[in-house]
Amino acid sequence: MVRAGFIGWRGMVGSVLMDRMIAEKDFSGFEPIFFTTSQVGQKGPAIGLDIPPLKDAYDIEELKTTDIIVTCQGSDHTKKVYPELRKAGWDGYWIDASSAMRMQDDSIIVLDPVNRAVIDNALHRGIKNYIGGNCTVSLMLMGLGGLFHKGLVEWITSMTYQAASGAGAKNMRELIEQMAFISRQSEDLLDDPASAALDLDKRVLGAMHDPSFPKENFGFPLAGSVLPWIDSALENGQSREEWKGIAETNKILGTKSPIPIDGICARVGSMRCHSQAFTIKLTKDLPLDDIVAIIDNDNEWVKVVPNTKEETLKRLTPAAVTGGLDVPVGRIRKLNMGGEYLTCYTVGDQLLWGAAEPIRRMFGIALEHIS
Ligand code: HSE
Repeated sequence: MVRAGFIGWRGMVGSVLMDRMIAEKDFSGFEPIFFTTSQVGQKGPAIGLDIPPLKDAYDIEELKTTDIIVTCQGSDHTKKVYPELRKAGWDGYWIDASSAMRMQDDSIIVLDPVNRAVIDNALHRGIKNYIGGNCTVSLMLMGLGGLFHKGLVEWITSMTYQAASGAGAKNMRELIEQMAFISRQSEDLLDDPASAALDLDKRVLGAMHDPSFPKENFGFPLAGSVLPWIDSALENGQSREEWKGIAETNKILGTKSPIPIDGICARVGSMRCHSQAFTIKLTKDLPLDDIVAIIDNDNEWVKVVPNTKEETLKRLTPAAVTGGLDVPVGRIRKLNMGGEYLTCYTVGDQLLWGAAEPIRRMFGIALEHIS
């Protein structure tokens, strides 16, 4: 029987992955082995099966006994363990949610509703490394896959509104701590219906600049503010998150000549849904109804939202989308610049299609391939 090792199943992405695997009854037809970086010998997760005690996630001999490894442990663990494991002769499938190996030539970035053909081709060529993509890129492709598949994209700019979860679990907590801090400091004014909005505003600003304002993780106030920089700086003025747009999209699609993609990525005060606004230069001027149908019919999760105020505010927000696999695309219309210029807006759960779901599905594909 195929032996599958799971590393980093307790963290945020790993927990979402475990929940999805349990919900989809994925734990059958293989032998699961759970690894840990800190609790060797303890009990593994409750997956409804008898499983052996936790093994050491740094033990190469133990890791070597697996046919597939699925890891959500993060880049540092991957960078340490993966090369040692291959050096020790391990020939299994490495399925990784972290970015460490994404751009390597012998890695495929996985998003099977969009690039199943690229994945299948790689499996047949004997490629063994399958890596989850950047969340913003994956969510864009889940929404706009139809336009890419039909060769309709000449270039795209994306302006993102990214959730706290993309920065990590601690950041999600910190966002709410910031909100709570502001709200505590403003309580008396909020309780007084006669208080002036400008006084409240001063109080909020005072709270944000208070030395005890919680900002250890973000470094700055996010609650009541917006942070227009994500990840490290590159020499050309882009942030690394912005660079990933062009680099990863073209790698996922396996394009021969890269489609230009660029924009500005910003962090906003939503918990786990990334939103993005696009300007798209189409390769030809198609009627809007045709474009809507192409977007809507690409995969079973993309859902076009009619461009009305009511439908948009009901269905195209993090509050509406969080916790679900659907990727709504709305605000679709031609821009004043001309018939080849399209705008639209999408929202997606950063922890599902943005992280755990492509990994869960790739595990299923690899399992099927070797079983
Ligand atoms: N880098 C992304 C973010 C999340 O900071 O929102 C990971 O893909």
